[in-house]
Amino acid sequence: MDTRTNISNVLVIGSGAAGLRAAIAAHEAGRQVTVLGKRLRKDAHTVLAAGGINAALGTVDPEDSWQQHFADTLREAYLLSDPRTVEIMAREAPDAVLELAEWGCDFARRPDGSLDQRYFGAHTYRRTCYAGDYTGRAMLHTLADHAAALGMTVLENVYVSRLLVRDGTCFGAYAFDIGSGERTVFLADAVVLAAGGHTRLWRRSSSRRDENTGDGMALALQAGCRLADMELVQFHPTGMVAPEEMAGTLVTEAVRGEGGHLRNADGERFMQRYDPQRMELSTRDRVALANYTEIAEGRGTSNGGVWLDISHRSKDEIVEKLPRMYRQFLESQMLDISAHPMEVAPTAHYSMGGVVVEPQDHSTDVEGLFAAGEVAAGLHGANRLGGNSLVETLIFGRRAGAAAAERSANLEVSLRARSVIADAQADLDGLIREGEEFARPLQRALRDALWEHCGVVRDEEGLNEGLARVADLREAAGSVDVRPTSEGFGDLAHALDLRAALLTAEATILGAIERRETRGAHIRSDHPDLDERLRVNLVVRCGREGRLETSRVPVPEVPEHLRGWLAPADELDVEGRLLE
Ligand code: FUM
Repeated sequence: MDTRTNISNVLVIGSGAAGLRAAIAAHEAGRQVTVLGKRLRKDAHTVLAAGGINAALGTVDPEDSWQQHFADTLREAYLLSDPRTVEIMAREAPDAVLELAEWGCDFARRPDGSLDQRYFGAHTYRRTCYAGDYTGRAMLHTLADHAAALGMTVLENVYVSRLLVRDGTCFGAYAFDIGSGERTVFLADAVVLAAGGHTRLWRRSSSRRDENTGDGMALALQAGCRLADMELVQFHPTGMVAPEEMAGTLVTEAVRGEGGHLRNADGERFMQRYDPQRMELSTRDRVALANYTEIAEGRGTSNGGVWLDISHRSKDEIVEKLPRMYRQFLESQMLDISAHPMEVAPTAHYSMGGVVVEPQDHSTDVEGLFAAGEVAAGLHGANRLGGNSLVETLIFGRRAGAAAAERSANLEVSLRARSVIADAQADLDGLIREGEEFARPLQRALRDALWEHCGVVRDEEGLNEGLARVADLREAAGSVDVRPTSEGFGDLAHALDLRAALLTAEATILGAIERRETRGAHIRSDHPDLDERLRVNLVVRCGREGRLETSRVPVPEVPEHLRGWLAPADELDVEGRLLE
């Protein structure tokens, strides 16, 4: 089969909100842009983001400020985020959200026309803008329509198998069409990686099949980037429990933001015991641990969940504010949530670690390669505030796209290296073969292993077992059967997803072993306290012979002008709780 060549100034890998925002920025800077998506144009993972996007607009609570948004984000991250990244996010969030509203995003509005804002967990004020409970979908459609109006196209069903890198500089990507198998060498002056996270690696996950498989992180790692804090995985407290094929599907925090109560099988509002002040609107790590504990200690439902009840609100309000949840439960369980509680349990939801980037432009360790969105590290630390990820996509997508455009505009000579392209081609050729194993069952086995050994609560023994399971699965993955079928080259994509998943799983478990403390979403039953010496980012890179090597990097200091927003109350006590 012939290999095509596509040449552009800026290549964007990923067609979710971060990728599209990057592409729009690069296009507006006058560059020619190519966008690649693994799925269909308006069906990237962003569509699943539900409850909202944060910006200190102060429309409902005028006392709010970007500095307070900064402080809430950093303290709930257990001081592991890069304060420079958090500052940019908090400062720029209002403009980013208002810009999207101008482009037509149908955020909910107040009678005076300003954007409405709801509560999300652990925010001091109401600062979460929303479009019902389909905020991500509304945003993605707006961005996709805006990009189309600018004459930009998105290539769909394209799987990137390798970033093209020579002497520490990225000059494009090697990819194939998942349907036809046709291969393309995408050459570019700069590449923006916006290919999502790795939470589909857990048995219960709010991601769908074949997305968030760690492929973006694996591409970056293999290209020479460092990954940070891969062990810091957010488990959302409320995923669906049944039916089995829907288990893990997100039940938005907006249910609690709109007043939903959590109860155990005894009918007790148990958050009273875990965080009596904030109750259901406590931080995600605490609510997830509370749900986990209730279930593990036998106070859960017979299906292994707890109850989430919003039935004290009127049906009209529920249908207006939570239309997707209403439909989701009606269609999957014939359950009317305005009359009955929902059964929920923790689900792997968000990768808080990822590719190491510079805060300002999201450039990576590899020249010409930028990363934005869930694939990147730096903003969320050990516990992400709900609603910060959507605003991250807009702000750092725009910054990465603009920086990529600038690099392209200033580049004297474009790099091309035939031997690198030949290697990428040989790699794919080598994967297509008969074998004794199949990718799907191995993916399932990996998801089971991570759920059991690197889940909500972890310990050293379990993590080591998990590491051994990953090694066994890697061995088995060496003889995966990959052949084109009448439906195309899906098997090849699955084999690559598996390879990426194994690499990112190993990076995650190595970090989880090394972080011998409990901090935010990383809960170690054998190290239940926070260790101030571990206020570091754990970084992993591909060393000699492809071996993963870990190291510790200190977290940058909080800038002087913002310290007053944190100190003196925000010191962490030995249990990792914030001193009041
Ligand atoms: O629960 C939610 O709607 C999730 C939002 C988020 O993760 O930001």
